[in-house]
Amino acid sequence: MSASLAAPLVTASYIGATILFIMSLGGLSHPESSRRGNLYGMIGMAIAVLATIFGPSVTAAGIPWIIGAMAVGGSIGFYAARTVQMTQMPELVALMHSLVGLAAMLVGFTSYIDPAASTGFSGTEKIIHEVEIYIGIFIGAITFSGSIIAFGKLSGKIGGKPLLLPARHWINLLGLLVVLWFGREFLRAESIDAGMTPLMVMTAVALLFGIHMVMAIGGADMPVVVSMLNSYSGWAAAATGFMLSNDLLIVIGALVGSSGAILSYIMCRAMNRHFVSVIAGGFGTSGGTVAAAGSQPAGEVVPISATETAELLRDAKNVIIVPGYGMAVAQAQHTVFEITRHLREKGINVRFGIHPVAGRMPGHMNVLLAEAKVPYDIVMEMDEINGDFPGTDVTMVIGANDIVNPAAQDDPSSPIAGMPVLEVWKSRISIVMKRSMASGYAGVDNPLFYKDNNRMLFGDAKKMLDEVLMALKV
Ligand code: TAP
Repeated sequence: MSASLAAPLVTASYIGATILFIMSLGGLSHPESSRRGNLYGMIGMAIAVLATIFGPSVTAAGIPWIIGAMAVGGSIGFYAARTVQMTQMPELVALMHSLVGLAAMLVGFTSYIDPAASTGFSGTEKIIHEVEIYIGIFIGAITFSGSIIAFGKLSGKIGGKPLLLPARHWINLLGLLVVLWFGREFLRAESIDAGMTPLMVMTAVALLFGIHMVMAIGGADMPVVVSMLNSYSGWAAAATGFMLSNDLLIVIGALVGSSGAILSYIMCRAMNRHFVSVIAGGFGTSGGTVAAAGSQPAGEVVPISATETAELLRDAKNVIIVPGYGMAVAQAQHTVFEITRHLREKGINVRFGIHPVAGRMPGHMNVLLAEAKVPYDIVMEMDEINGDFPGTDVTMVIGANDIVNPAAQDDPSSPIAGMPVLEVWKSRISIVMKRSMASGYAGVDNPLFYKDNNRMLFGDAKKMLDEVLMALKV
């Protein structure tokens, strides 16, 4: 028995949902409109889910199962979203991508063994359907295993060092040839049983390929991998849409796939990496050496106190604040805002310099600063502000490290060589706030700390900024 909504109504709902998703992406492109963008996305998703559940492809008997599964999945998602720390978001996102990949794999296998689907196609249609299944499972398996490894690396359960197998590109090429060969065997198979073997072999190769691809990537290049897996998860969803003949899923998958690919491209440019070498895997080491874990600091540093920092700020005309991952860990954004407001009231020009990969996820710093109500017009992108450091009196680096490392420009053997960085050392004085001399995410020492015009304010960023604020107010 079919459920109640008629096909034309479902189509109209799908078109409405698609428009809302496109408006959502548009809204998310700017902090001011991002809340609205989120709302559009939520409404679009609600319409899409309801139209699908009550549409002609779902029987009345299936509805309780779907609602039960949604209740379980929704509760887990709700719990995860409420409890996850902002700093753990990239891991959560990686885990979510793995679920999209897993879903694509499962839908692929189900579509293949489903007797209704397999007897419903013949001739060219059957070939197209089987190609959809083969490609869908292939992309799904890579996304699934790659995302699990990305989750492990981002959460520190797997080491950040790239695994560089000898002849790894040849191994990838061999894997691709095996996939192509078994694809031919799969299409030639006379029965479902006969087709199952090539399908399983390809799945195993794709799973290994996903593991190998992400294992071969160096720590500092992980951000690109997350956005790339985001793109893969979109293509996996689109492939699922083809297998299920669901137009909305195809469109949404393509939107996620292409926006993820654009984000990966932007991030590759921000880190001076080549997009093609990302897709091929095994990047993150070219032109540099593998970062030695916990590389030793070299040179002398000049410490500074919170009171001295406050004095320097008070005497300055132009101040730039460069936040990084440590600001997120310390949850110091509200104190940063208080200090900014205080200095601006005294007529000091305060601006923020945001590196595209500061923190642990795209837009991480923008989200924190927006939460603390820092005005958007003083938050500048790296390219907008990099030329202004020479005319700046004081630059405060709050829990940032790799994104202000001059070795990226000066040392061709550095693992982060070529990555564009915020040139804070060009300001009259720079103050780095961090707890110790420990290295950042990329595991490399930072020559900025030893420069004559740099000072180190050691301690937890929130605690030290509270002290600076207190000293400013007296
Ligand atoms: P990092 O280079 O990781 O440096 C953060 C610094 O914050 C550390 O050196 C740490 O030093 C300090 N810190 C930690 N907790 C602190 C606290 N409570 N108070 C004060 N300081 C604290 O961060 P970054 O400069 O923002 O650069 C980002 C890095 O992450 C890049 O290498 C980037 O490639 C990578 N990454 C980025 C993303 C995205 S998409 N943004 C995703 C994954 C990886 P102490 O331990 O001495 O305090």
